Amino acid sequence: MAKKKATASKASTKLQIRSWIETFDIGKELKSKNELTGFVYFLGSDDSNTLNNLVEEHALAWQMDSIKKNEKEFTHFVGLQGPVWILRPKGKNSVGHDGLLDEAGYTWARDQFGALVAQFKSQQIKALRIEFVGTEKAQELGALVGLDMAPYNYRQFVDGKHLADMPKVALVKNSDSFDKDLIREASIRARAVTLARHLVNMPPNDLNPRSYSEMASKKIAWGKNLTVTIWDEKKLASEKMGLHLSVGQGAMNGSRMVHLKYRPTKKSGLKPVAFVGKGITFDTGGLDIKPSSAMRLMKKDMGGSAAVVGLALWASESQYPGPLDFYLALAENSVDANSFRPGDIITARNGMKVEIDNTDAEGRLVLADVLDVACTQKGNDVPEFVIDVATLTGAIKVGLGAEIAGLFSNDDDLANELTKAGQRAGDLNWRMPLFERYWSDMSSPFADCKNSGGGFGGAITAALFLQKFVGGKKWAHLDIYAWADRASGAIGSSGGSGQAVQCLIEFLESRV
Ligand code: BES
Ligand code: MN
Ligand code: ZN
Repeated sequence: MAKKKATASKASTKLQIRSWIETFDIGKELKSKNELTGFVYFLGSDDSNTLNNLVEEHALAWQMDSIKKNEKEFTHFVGLQGPVWILRPKGKNSVGHDGLLDEAGYTWARDQFGALVAQFKSQQIKALRIEFVGTEKAQELGALVGLDMAPYNYRQFVDGKHLADMPKVALVKNSDSFDKDLIREASIRARAVTLARHLVNMPPNDLNPRSYSEMASKKIAWGKNLTVTIWDEKKLASEKMGLHLSVGQGAMNGSRMVHLKYRPTKKSGLKPVAFVGKGITFDTGGLDIKPSSAMRLMKKDMGGSAAVVGLALWASESQYPGPLDFYLALAENSVDANSFRPGDIITARNGMKVEIDNTDAEGRLVLADVLDVACTQKGNDVPEFVIDVATLTGAIKVGLGAEIAGLFSNDDDLANELTKAGQRAGDLNWRMPLFERYWSDMSSPFADCKNSGGGFGGAITAALFLQKFVGGKKWAHLDIYAWADRASGAIGSSGGSGQAVQCLIEFLESRV
């Protein structure tokens, strides 16, 4: 039996992301009572009656009083029938800022339920009964996404084993059935995040611009209505994408652009939204080489493109009603005799001449040409919004840390929608200024501009550079970190964090 399974999974070359929550038994009670069974109760609001009832049902006599009296959001004890977890959010803990950085109901549930998964593992729970009582949709979605995200870790995933020891689950709501569509919705979201995380975790000797583009066209199991086009070096040259090409010219595998074009079956009034992701599969800094500590994590420099891939998986699997374009700007920034140099003057696809000030400011170069491709589409393909996602600067992580993306936009409505979407999805961003006066830092006596300058306000000058290539389109730029240094909440293992995927899903959902 086990043998048969192993050959079957080897034969399939697709990167399938399996879902734990899709195996849940909905609205049924557990069959066998002879296994170590855990009980999870999610009380949507503070409800002392329900709490008292289930304490009577589970707790030992000496436990009852203290459990009934406790005010905590998280209660755990081992009772008459096995371990019990009770989760009950106590309402908003506002941190101010107009509530934009407050923890949403979705976020609280996702991170609490995600954190439970490690406990199920360490206690070797074989079966689980999960009951939602008086919960709202956002809380349920959060809980399910958290449960589906948390089991992922790179090594077990590669071996196809990250779900091997997960308990079997019976899920009930208000002692009744449960909406199966919500399970599916949560599973698609979680798998989109997991795909982004996995791509970031892949080692740079496996993931390079060529293998990455091949994965996009052959290995990822997209839903229908999505077509993949790859532009290789020849095509990039014929498109005059000098900036994109120059970054990759020192690498074994040259630059590539991938275009994932999603067009739903049914026509709607919606105009396309274009997403562009920075996909530097490894950033040595180039000839302006990084010191080893700064280079150590630079396999994650394709984190923006990974978020865009995750979003494309979500859109195609959930058959999003509007047209969408996803562009991956892929290159490896290497040190070689062929590498581009400080002082080189390169012509962009839009005709601008850029003097290379620093080869480590490469992300803005690949994005510039691909943003130009996204913004110069014709007819029905003209985008309403263009949104890029990039691990663009070290400066933004100094300002905002690992969990809050820097948001730059030339459109207030778009910016507000993105910040609100990030708040609801527990995947935050904070608006930063496109302060024109700093552009003078980027002036060059030899070309239209340089690719870096100054040193102060590095995230702002980087964003100002990108703005030169969006041709006045409504545009937003998310400067992300893409990495979690430690496991926490629904992120069950350190590494790629899937940053920006949930925010952008929430943004797209709010448009329809
Ligand atoms: N990929 C880096 C930015 C980065 C560094 C993101 C660390 C996350 C963590 C980018 O290509 C880069 O090297 N940026 C330079 C730009 C500078 C040379 C103008 C930076 O931020 O130092
Ligand atoms: Mn760099
Ligand atoms: Zn970079």
